[in-house]
Amino acid sequence: MKIAPSILSANFNHLYDDVKDLKKLGCDYLHVDVMDGHFVPNISFGTLAYENLKGKVDMIFDVHLMITNPLYYAPIFIKKGADILTFHLEVDQDKEKIIKVIKDSGAKVGISIKPRTDVEKIVPYLGKIDLVLVMSVEPGFGGQKFMENSLSKIKFLDEYRKKHSLNYLIEVDGGINEKTAKLCKDKGCDIVVCGTYVFKAKDRKKAIEAILNL
Ligand code: DX5
Ligand code: ZN
Repeated sequence: MKIAPSILSANFNHLYDDVKDLKKLGCDYLHVDVMDGHFVPNISFGTLAYENLKGKVDMIFDVHLMITNPLYYAPIFIKKGADILTFHLEVDQDKEKIIKVIKDSGAKVGISIKPRTDVEKIVPYLGKIDLVLVMSVEPGFGGQKFMENSLSKIKFLDEYRKKHSLNYLIEVDGGINEKTAKLCKDKGCDIVVCGTYVFKAKDRKKAIEAILNL
């Protein structure tokens, strides 16, 4: 199991040092939650949150766009260092176009689905993307409780990729701790996003190891 710590829960006063430590502790991905106050009822940050870390930490920059206009913003977020750019299936824009813009800009493509979105709606895109981000909380805020209905979605996505010889990654986001991470792993999840669990842990090393060793 891979871990993607979400800097939404980080203290930006010492972000660089914290992120360097996370890499040393075995985290390969860095999850960046971008919120525009329209797609979700919260505003977080834009490219400034990560562009100065790029090139200084050897991690995969996993940028999660919770915004209504990914078609316009995708190239900007990629230029500033996103390695994987994930947009939401629920946006009211041409998904094929967004996928193309992300690929043409040189990043891997992810699509995320909210807890109330039927997993089968993502099927038409599964052959064209690199990652599916299953939301296990309503997007917008860290620190919420894991929703168990995400588990059947993970299982479906894992079975589907095996059946169709696809190799998109399955990432789960929201309410992750060592218990919920285990539930996700058992269904076929590859990466868990951890905000509160990692950044607010008393012992970060122990918290990360518990998940890496699942
Ligand atoms: C929620 C974000 C998550 C969030 C997870 O909208 O997409 O990535 O930071 O936070 P925790 O791990 O605290 O649930
Ligand atoms: Zn996220």
